[in-house]
Amino acid sequence: MDQLRIIGGRRLKGSIEISGAKNAALPALAATLLTADEVRLGRIPSVRDIRTMAGLLESIGASVVRENGGYRIQAAAISESGAPYERVKTMRASSLVLGPLVARTGRARVSLPGGCAIGARPIDIHLLGLQTLGAEVRQEAGYIEAVATEGLRGARFTFPKITVTGTEDLMMAAALAKGETMLDNAAREPEVADLAEMLTKMGARIEGAGTSTLRIEGVERLHGCEHAIIPDRIETGTYLIAGALAADELELRGVETDHLGALLDKLAQAGVDVASEGDRLIVRGGRPLMAVDVTTEEHPGFPTDMQAQWMALMLTAQGSAHVTETIFENRFMHVAELGRMGAKIELNGNQATIRGGRPLTGARVMASDLRASACLVLAALAAEGETVIERVYHLDRGYENLDGKLAAVGASIERIV
Ligand code: EPU
Repeated sequence: MDQLRIIGGRRLKGSIEISGAKNAALPALAATLLTADEVRLGRIPSVRDIRTMAGLLESIGASVVRENGGYRIQAAAISESGAPYERVKTMRASSLVLGPLVARTGRARVSLPGGCAIGARPIDIHLLGLQTLGAEVRQEAGYIEAVATEGLRGARFTFPKITVTGTEDLMMAAALAKGETMLDNAAREPEVADLAEMLTKMGARIEGAGTSTLRIEGVERLHGCEHAIIPDRIETGTYLIAGALAADELELRGVETDHLGALLDKLAQAGVDVASEGDRLIVRGGRPLMAVDVTTEEHPGFPTDMQAQWMALMLTAQGSAHVTETIFENRFMHVAELGRMGAKIELNGNQATIRGGRPLTGARVMASDLRASACLVLAALAAEGETVIERVYHLDRGYENLDGKLAAVGASIERIV
């Protein structure tokens, strides 16, 4: 299994191109199932979750061709209306094919995703929503089967809890349902708005994207389109923190600053020097940092996907910072590993208290989930000496060429295969 060896303390300098957003590309890939026409998707990051989703689409009958950093996909006919356990177990986002499959073929059979390192992560709300649109939902032998023989019907549905992929799943289903669907308490993440933009290009009629109320007027059929995925705001945030921790000057190219509001506010409060020029951000490190508390929230609040990386930053700040996780129940797996590097963090329920300003030292640590792995890389860049991170496959699920990008700006980072 691959490992990363990082020697901390190198000053970073140079420029990094930001990739397309994994969490926008995944629903976009699922949305290609809604039409028999060809769909061209640009700026698809080359990461493992995307390859898993592409493989899933192929197993369902789509032709998938990788070209120029994007994909050409055509699901002319659906041969298998399901997602087998072997594919779903490694990626929970496979539940995103549920809505498109029922909407297009009247039937979907998807293996129930298991738990994952960051919590139980049920999909009950996706199912409740599909039932509200008229699907019959059964569970047997670890599979969810959703059937709507007469097609889905538009309805009003209020999400009992805000869910990102749940909103995406239902928006795709409602696009081909008969009549009007109103979705209340919908997720407002930029990835949801990006999907709405793509669906609109395919002929869907959606109002309110980016707000908590979506109105979708179902259409009989959708057609092909060309769509470029938005830049990855979490990758951007991760490199901003790398810059704050270790850069003389780091430029991030191809960013969407509007998607980074809560994070940029917190970085400013902490004293990080970030300048914005069009689609570029420039971060300069080396300034003394202040401890700043964060509480994760749905967008536009502080993203849970930046919580672990924020902790790495706070380890180098003066004073104590509280990090409160409200989205997932078990997203502090990185705390014990950071402890091996000399960090002092106390955990109390869903709140971590980081005692900053202590020197970090390299150690052998283990990645546990995607963002926890990114946090360990960041801590390693700031630590003295050598850190070896095991189970790097977690990182490869969602960061395109992280080691290559960091090495190109001067980090001492090497993949041991
Ligand atoms: N929830 C339910 N029932 C459901 C759906 C969600 O109880 O049917 C709960 C979850 O357990 C969680 C909360 O609602 O406590 C929010 O979960 P959400 O459904 O919004 O998460 P998700 O859609 O499964 C996406 C991202 C995650 C990101 C979260 C929150 C994708 C493919 N994944 O997951 O990204 O953390 O939204 O913003 O879009 C990552 O990239 O590292 C990652 C985990």
